[in-house]
Amino acid sequence: MSSIFTSKHILLGITGSIAAYKAAELASRLTQEGAQVDVILTPAAERFVAPLTFQSVTGRKAFTEAELWGGEAHVLHVGLGHSADLLVIAPCTANTIARLAHGIADDLLTITALAARCPIIIAPAMDVGMYTHPATQENIRLLNERGLHFAGPGEGRMASGLTGKGRMLEPAELLGHMRLILGKNGKLAGRKVVVTAGGTQEPIDPVRVITNRSSGKQGYALAQAALDAGAQVTLITAPTALSAPVGARLIEVRTAAEMLEAVLAESAGVDALLMAAAVADFRPKKAAENKLKKQDGILQIELEAAPDILETVAGQKSRKNRPCLVVGFAAESRDLVKNASAKLSSKKLDMIVANDITAPDSGFAVNTNRVTLLFKDAKVESLPLMSKAEVAEVILERVAGMLPKA
Ligand code: CTP
Repeated sequence: MSSIFTSKHILLGITGSIAAYKAAELASRLTQEGAQVDVILTPAAERFVAPLTFQSVTGRKAFTEAELWGGEAHVLHVGLGHSADLLVIAPCTANTIARLAHGIADDLLTITALAARCPIIIAPAMDVGMYTHPATQENIRLLNERGLHFAGPGEGRMASGLTGKGRMLEPAELLGHMRLILGKNGKLAGRKVVVTAGGTQEPIDPVRVITNRSSGKQGYALAQAALDAGAQVTLITAPTALSAPVGARLIEVRTAAEMLEAVLAESAGVDALLMAAAVADFRPKKAAENKLKKQDGILQIELEAAPDILETVAGQKSRKNRPCLVVGFAAESRDLVKNASAKLSSKKLDMIVANDITAPDSGFAVNTNRVTLLFKDAKVESLPLMSKAEVAEVILERVAGMLPKA
């Protein structure tokens, strides 16, 4: 299985900032994702980190100023820029931003950037005063206008001890920004996809809830896969411990009722709704206003049915409101295909993703999943054990295949 980075040629430029150490993790993660990573260090970057650090994690030569004056120099700076799918400069100092803005090409990195015809992402890293200085802001404006992409900076504590805007984004977040650019023209470009994720929480009192063991991992992976394919993604999520994929519009909810309201508002007329959330089937009839006390004795909680979101959304008569494709999930502990197929037809779905929650390597909380896809036309496709990211990729591929031509 491939990831969006597989076989991509990524150029990683590193400039002279203390955040340069974080670039080693970025280079490592890109390499693990299957990218071919070529690193260019400016002379100032070399004072913070060594080329060997990057050679060790990428398995490829890291380029430095020395190469600019070597025998291959005449092809190197143009060649690197021309063969790359993406140039990322992380960390990028105020000085390099200024040089890029004004077309100054006085080291291997800025020469390569000038020659490059691929998208460029800049991850600024500098002191807050330098970042907010009108000169830097004007340079950023110029580069933005020219189509370069800025990722960050974030806010937080800086090396100077001050707190403010200027921190380089963390590698995980930078990867998210890179995915967005690489996936822009994917199979789902121009499509709108709504994904739900996580287990809803139904209050018993102000501190207690009824919930389930859903981690949200499969839903978040679906949102990421849809973004990788170029879709515009809204992620409606119950509480999880996960960070939202970069680029998704996040709507946070708690209860089944809140999720229903959000799904109805967000999914009208979209291309696909992927209902991966584990929604409560039952909820306390009435949540206590104050914390229930032990001395009041053992509780009897009266439950009532929670709304069935899928049934409500997929069953809508108006073509304007119903998402073009509605995909459900079925968590089953027995008679997988039979039960899932009954849900497919009773909830009027286009596709259902069934998983056996009793298998230790599948279902709740783990990173892998073994699912069977059932389609409206009675086709059944059993997938082998895969990571949740891979499962998500296959689901989105099937969704893209089923959508009518735009
Ligand atoms: N679902 C929903 N609203 C609910 C319960 C479930 O929209 N109140 C959705 C889930 O998001 C999932 C699908 O319905 O996509 C099937 O969920 P599942 O829990 O497997 O099935 P249920 O319909 O709840 O049936 P049962 O619990 O009896 O198996």
